[in-house]
Amino acid sequence: MPTGSMDLFDAIYTTRATRKLRHDLPVPDEDVYKILDAGIQAANGGNRQVWKFIVVRDPRIKRQLGDLYRELVNWVTSSNPNRKLDSGELYLGEHMAESPVIIVVCGISSGNEPPDEATAVGATMPAIENMLLAARALGYGGNISAVVRRRQDDLRRILGLGPNAYAATLLPIGVPQGSHGLKSRLPVEEVTYDDTWGNPTRLKRPASVWKPKLELLSEGDRKKGRG
Ligand SMILES: Cc1cc2nc3c(=O)[nH]c(=O)nc-3n(C[C@H](O)[C@H](O)[C@H](O)COP(=O)(O)O)c2cc1C
Repeated sequence: MPTGSMDLFDAIYTTRATRKLRHDLPVPDEDVYKILDAGIQAANGGNRQVWKFIVVRDPRIKRQLGDLYRELVNWVTSSNPNRKLDSGELYLGEHMAESPVIIVVCGISSGNEPPDEATAVGATMPAIENMLLAARALGYGGNISAVVRRRQDDLRRILGLGPNAYAATLLPIGVPQGSHGLKSRLPVEEVTYDDTWGNPTRLKRPASVWKPKLELLSEGDRKKGRG
């Protein structure tokens, strides 16, 4: 298993939404701790650290979360016929409960009411990305499964959330079934302006920008000739 030492750019470019996880390979507590510890190093407003994490390993609770997640994936499919889910999204809809561990990331408030959705998601997202990167470096993958936040009442019941907590996402973590593969993103030139809105950037892709390394590619990416 990788030790966690990985080139930062390799990790950033190959940390994917990893939904197909090995159900037969565990994520030891030591690695879960490292992933959480990397998460809480993230930038956060005023260093108030308005987050809590629930590490779910209990099969009964995983099953309840899995049932809830399946319902939401089905709802996404049925409520928007134009939104075609890919095989990974559908797979996780069926197999969330079999994830070796599910980390539930919660935003909290200092009062007795949960923070609103935007506050909870915004406050926890840097930590979530750090956790995904740390998981990647340790040889795992995971996925931000945030659609579940729409069912706070059910999450509150299943997890016994405190009155000031809002569950922002489930983060299933495990060893990927395949390799990590490459992302598909619009280039910087298409999403960046100079000085004011709408003014095309002068930035040009430098030759030294990160390039895929053969050993980091999935079989699919190799076949597509990427790298
Ligand atoms: C706020 C947020 C919510 C997300 N919710 C879900 C979700 O509920 N289910 C899911 O399968 N993926 C979810 N994702 C993952 C995205 O679909 C994924 O990051 C995107 O498709 C890019 O994937 P890639 O990095 O592998 O290219 C979410 C991502 C973010 C940032």
